[in-house]
Amino acid sequence: MYRNPFTPVFGNEPPVLAGRGTLISEVLRSLENAPGDPNRVVVFTGPRGSGKTVLLNRIGDLAEEMGWIAVHTLAAPGMLDEIRDQLERKAADFLPKRGKSRITGLQVSGIGGTREFPPERELGWRTQMDSYLDVLEGQDVGLLLTVDEVKADVEDMIGLVSVFQFFVREKRNIALLMAGLPHEVLQMFQDRTISFVRRAFLRKLDPVSLPEVRATMKKTIELSGRSIGSEALDEAANSTMGLPFVIQLVGYHAFNQSQRKAVSLVDVQAGIKDAKQDMEHMVLDASLQELTPTEKRFLHAMLPDGDTSRVADIAERMGVTPSSASHYKRRLIDRGVLHDAGRGLVAFDMPMLKTLLAERCGKGA
Ligand SMILES: Nc1ncnc2c1ncn2[C@@H]1O[C@H](COP(=O)(O)OP(=O)(O)O)[C@@H](O)[C@H]1O
Ligand SMILES: [Mg+2]
Repeated sequence: MYRNPFTPVFGNEPPVLAGRGTLISEVLRSLENAPGDPNRVVVFTGPRGSGKTVLLNRIGDLAEEMGWIAVHTLAAPGMLDEIRDQLERKAADFLPKRGKSRITGLQVSGIGGTREFPPERELGWRTQMDSYLDVLEGQDVGLLLTVDEVKADVEDMIGLVSVFQFFVREKRNIALLMAGLPHEVLQMFQDRTISFVRRAFLRKLDPVSLPEVRATMKKTIELSGRSIGSEALDEAANSTMGLPFVIQLVGYHAFNQSQRKAVSLVDVQAGIKDAKQDMEHMVLDASLQELTPTEKRFLHAMLPDGDTSRVADIAERMGVTPSSASHYKRRLIDRGVLHDAGRGLVAFDMPMLKTLLAERCGKGA
């Protein structure tokens, strides 16, 4: 019985990482360098399934192997507390046991119904983190913070960034890695309250190259004790469009077709079919579900084009005025379905969504 080694679940670390080597080594090198290295404040961006969460976790693990402490959090209310609590757990060996000092913090955040007063909380958090950073520094231990699923409008996110810039100024031995969907990241970069973020390096998680997809699928299959021929491998790799989630999904289904030692071309073809169904369900239906009929018409009107569409053409195809087309464009961008490609152009945020939509329309559905 061979065990399926693929991990088609969001956030699950795959046994073999495809691509991303440069992104990882840039950050790791910056941790070895002195504080102030620009690669210590990075924003990773890419569509769903491009591997952002996995990348943050991976870099965190490698940083811990280098003796750093890595604290992982999501951009959400309460994230500052979460960061502090995790740090206290992970650095329990270094940090002094916390006394009653936290009571103040609890009182501030615990007043039922009334709004917290962020600057005070932020200040409290900063003071506490400062004292922890002093201790870590004494032990020559750096602190890596990762923030997944960034959103500009989360108050604690703004709090974190504004405190973090002081840490940077004070040359603390820290790093901040953030990750988010392109439209969220764009919004964050435009938010004036956290202009510090604009100094972060922006790194895109582009589709993984075909040779790397091939190598990853082969290695992953071989880890399980099975094998795959080059024709079957080509077919599998070609079907993924370089999207990490699809690498896992196609691999997973191809693997499940049989228990023979070699994964065959027929297995791969059947696996791709199963993977497509899952993708349709998870990506296409999930995305379309949230849209109004007119927003869907807008997307359909983009299908005849290549990577980008002119808003003017879409308006014409839909038979609406350019200004109402712009209005729908805006809404679809806010929903994270499209992004502005500049000069009156729009593009699907997730190319796969377009492919799936085109295929469904082709079927007359
Ligand atoms: N570099 C990679 N190589 C192969 N598979 C990956 C890679 N990164 C992520 N995956 C897989 O892709 C899927 C999505 O990863 P995840 O990090 O959750 O994406 P995101 O956070 O961008 O939505 C998971 O199934 C994961 O196992
Ligand atoms: Mg994620």
